[in-house]
Amino acid sequence: MVHEALHYLLPKKNGIYIDGTLGEGNHTLAILEATEGRCRVIGLDLDREAIRLAESNLRAYSDSVELFEASYADFDSVLRSLDIEKVSGILLDLGVSTLQLKGDGRGFSYEKDEPLDMRMSSRNPITAETIVNRYSESELARVIFELGDEKRFARRISRHIVRRRPLLTTGDLVSAVRNALPPEEIRKRRRHFATRVFQAIRIEVNKEIDTLERSLVRMPDYIKDGGRLVVISFHSLEDRAVKNKFREMKDSELKILTKKPVVPSERELISNPRSRSAKLRAAERIARG
Ligand SMILES: C[S@@+](CC[C@H](N)C(=O)[O-])C[C@H]1O[C@@H](n2cnc3c(N)ncnc32)[C@H](O)[C@@H]1O
Repeated sequence: MVHEALHYLLPKKNGIYIDGTLGEGNHTLAILEATEGRCRVIGLDLDREAIRLAESNLRAYSDSVELFEASYADFDSVLRSLDIEKVSGILLDLGVSTLQLKGDGRGFSYEKDEPLDMRMSSRNPITAETIVNRYSESELARVIFELGDEKRFARRISRHIVRRRPLLTTGDLVSAVRNALPPEEIRKRRRHFATRVFQAIRIEVNKEIDTLERSLVRMPDYIKDGGRLVVISFHSLEDRAVKNKFREMKDSELKILTKKPVVPSERELISNPRSRSAKLRAAERIARG
């Protein structure tokens, strides 16, 4: 949704922008191209490999970008370190990147048999292995139910995971889920039967919802009057968190620009089927009195 993100972020020459989820740098590149390189982008990502790749992808604009291996939750300390008080806009494109899903040894994908890792940051002490082996059965069921949207089978799956311990690889997790689900349920599912469980564990490992909620409420203080906050989410819980936080700040700090979330165009769905569940919400910083 690069096109839609730019439409709402509205990058201007001489502006300062935060790309809080840099990834490979595609959004940052689009911001720089839209301003002919005459703005400044501060790019943050938890993932060291993403930073390295973005650095190379953005080489043509190296004078206009500053990249940090950091959580977007720490955007305020990054701004402080650069002596910046306020920015013209903040963009978040949440979730996992293709680089992480396809990368070797990261443990994000049910398609490979790898150690249960799923950390976006190698500094995170908690891995997927910690969660599947140490959480109690009821804690696991809650994670799978809430973060995986696995409403009917969360308890069954958590029981099978506990029974199978110790789980060491993504293959172990896939087979615990396979054993927990009735065969007709596996056949019926449009997506891989372990998708929801993998999503749930990944969100828990990286504390994704909590980070989002904590960060969104602090962001408007650091956005100039008329500046924009744009968030793309991939999960109903994330979208709900964005909607609710925007609503809490509505009229006092933010003017909401998207009554309903913006979804990918037909064309994007064809070229990038993974964007299917993407939702974009945008808001503008209300002028301070
Ligand atoms: C969907 S990808 C972003 C892709 C990016 N917009 C691009 O153009 O290539 C999400 C990225 O956000 C990063 N990420 C997730 N949570 C983060 C956080 N709390 N702070 C910083 N980066 C985060 C992930 O490591 C991943 O690289």
